Amino acid sequence: MRERLLTHFNATFGRSPTVIARAPGRIEFIGNHTDYNGGTVLGAAIDRGVWVALAPREDGLRRFASALREGLVEQPADALAKLNGGASWVNYALGVLAALPEFGLRVPAGFDFLAVSDLPVGAGLSSSAAIELASALAFLELTGERPARETVVKVGKHAENNFVGVPCGILDQGVSGFGRKDHLVFIDCRGPRFATVPLPAGAQFWIFNTHTRHALVDGLYAARHRECMAAAQALGVGLLVEATPAMLAAARGRLSTATYQRAQHIIEEIARVGATVQALAQGDLASAGRLLTASHRSSQRLFENSTPELDFLVDALVTTPGVHGARLTGGGFGGAVMALTNDQFSEVEARIVTKRYEDEFGASPDTLQTQTGDGACVVQPGSASS
Ligand code: GLA
Repeated sequence: MRERLLTHFNATFGRSPTVIARAPGRIEFIGNHTDYNGGTVLGAAIDRGVWVALAPREDGLRRFASALREGLVEQPADALAKLNGGASWVNYALGVLAALPEFGLRVPAGFDFLAVSDLPVGAGLSSSAAIELASALAFLELTGERPARETVVKVGKHAENNFVGVPCGILDQGVSGFGRKDHLVFIDCRGPRFATVPLPAGAQFWIFNTHTRHALVDGLYAARHRECMAAAQALGVGLLVEATPAMLAAARGRLSTATYQRAQHIIEEIARVGATVQALAQGDLASAGRLLTASHRSSQRLFENSTPELDFLVDALVTTPGVHGARLTGGGFGGAVMALTNDQFSEVEARIVTKRYEDEFGASPDTLQTQTGDGACVVQPGSASS
């Protein structure tokens, strides 16, 4: 990846970068939509991500390029403005620039910026958080500032919430920032508090990307966010993490079916995250897998953010040998399913699942076997591996 980045940077800007940073994509392991409800969540940083290279410019111009798209996007440093259409990927980096002063951090003026990625797009692996974190670390390296890791994570989330305009929680940025090879990242989103949990040996992740995406996915995510906040208000708590099953049962007559189900999903999902942490501590991947599948069923029936394609994949996977559990990963309404498997699960089993999907839907999902990886970091030119 580093060679690719350097080659592209030179070809695009005719010089070498002074700063390089990288940030991984993530898998949402369990804790669907719990983050912005103040709950807990487990994620894994993966061994793929986004790399950003930067070199300063003296003329106050910011130029952005990506190996994935043709052309340069230019913007004067004194006129930060949101972009549309094919250039909108730049908003993740622009949002970081807009966020830095909110955290008392300096903003670099002019620069040349290049991003390369080996994350499949639209697979629910959070390439947006990876761009935010890699950009933030690269900008901070350029201005010579080293805030705490938690601050970098919050800068990324601030960019997404306030500049890009998605009311997401801290899962994606937190996992990209605090990831660790052979570990999961546990986040208590109220603090927020970040910790790592060892992943028992022999576990593998498989991603099945359906390439389906509900046309209204951003609006539907925001709608679920609103429904959860309304449910919290109806239950008399600030966030759903403070609600108990007894409080929910007592309020049944006052809540619409949808509001009740959204709250039930969040309350039970937070309990499942706790049970998963315990199962992992005992090395019990079979129990962890059952909790993942239960999480999917709850997203499917109560939170209603699954799709027939995702449900089909989960059904096919959980009846395939070697699969501990499977669930949608990320916001939902399309995207990908994640399976936790033993190390006997291979391309052969994956192919049986994708064939069944093909017979049903006439299109094939992409499969990706992925490992856990380390969190975002600055990579000095000349000192990187891979
Ligand atoms: C998206 C958001 C996260 C989280 C998940 C659902 O990935 O970016 O903050 O809410 O959806 O759990």
